[in-house]
Amino acid sequence: MNVEAAERYDAWYRTPRGAWIGEVEFALLARLLAARPGERLLDVGSGTGYFTRRCARKLGVFATGLDPDPAALQVASRPAEPGERYVEGCVEQLPFADRSFDRTICVTALCFIADQRQALREMVRVTRKRIVLGLLNRASLLYLQKGRGGGRGAYRGAHWHTRREALELFAGLPVHQVQLRSAVFLPSGGAIARTIEPLVPDRCAVGAFLAVAADVID
Ligand SMILES: C[S@@+](CC[C@H](N)C(=O)[O-])C[C@H]1O[C@@H](n2cnc3c(N)ncnc32)[C@H](O)[C@@H]1O
Repeated sequence: MNVEAAERYDAWYRTPRGAWIGEVEFALLARLLAARPGERLLDVGSGTGYFTRRCARKLGVFATGLDPDPAALQVASRPAEPGERYVEGCVEQLPFADRSFDRTICVTALCFIADQRQALREMVRVTRKRIVLGLLNRASLLYLQKGRGGGRGAYRGAHWHTRREALELFAGLPVHQVQLRSAVFLPSGGAIARTIEPLVPDRCAVGAFLAVAADVID
């Protein structure tokens, strides 16, 4: 991505639909994360830092965004406020010591990563408490609109997880209490979508956004 493309990506979160989707996704992530102020959080595949920033500002955590894309990091860091920092790197080999972070998130990034197994091993290695993944849901309206046939626009090349795949991501790794939730039931973001969203239980796994949380075993 170049800087203009990264700015366009970030600007999407300021459109009415993007702002609504971002809010709904963040609300679910924050609920599952249950972070305490002052904890250290890693955001893997942080892109332009939308979730890193929100975690720092709204949850009071010290947030580190990690991404291999210098242009995305440049946009994320303009300006990085106290409580957030950005590091260039890849999830397959995280440049952090074991158990460096209390909590880790990874939002719509795993779906673009070829070696998901290695990515999860690394996330588990650097995390002390809880990991929350944000994934694209194959059993969703958004998949029918944007995901089929290799995907369109920003979704091109993304892997859309099934519920079963999502639940099996952590299989064999030292985690327990795996939970799966979903959000963004009608991805249009219009008036009907906004009315329906709070009425559908987050256990109903048909939202465009699948969130999987797991606790790392001490
Ligand atoms: C769709 S963007 C999501 C960005 C951000 N999490 C968000 O939700 O706005 C996917 C991000 O994953 C990053 N990514 C791709 N491969 C990666 C890897 N091997 N390790 C870490 N991040 C990676 C990309 O550079 C990109 O910024």
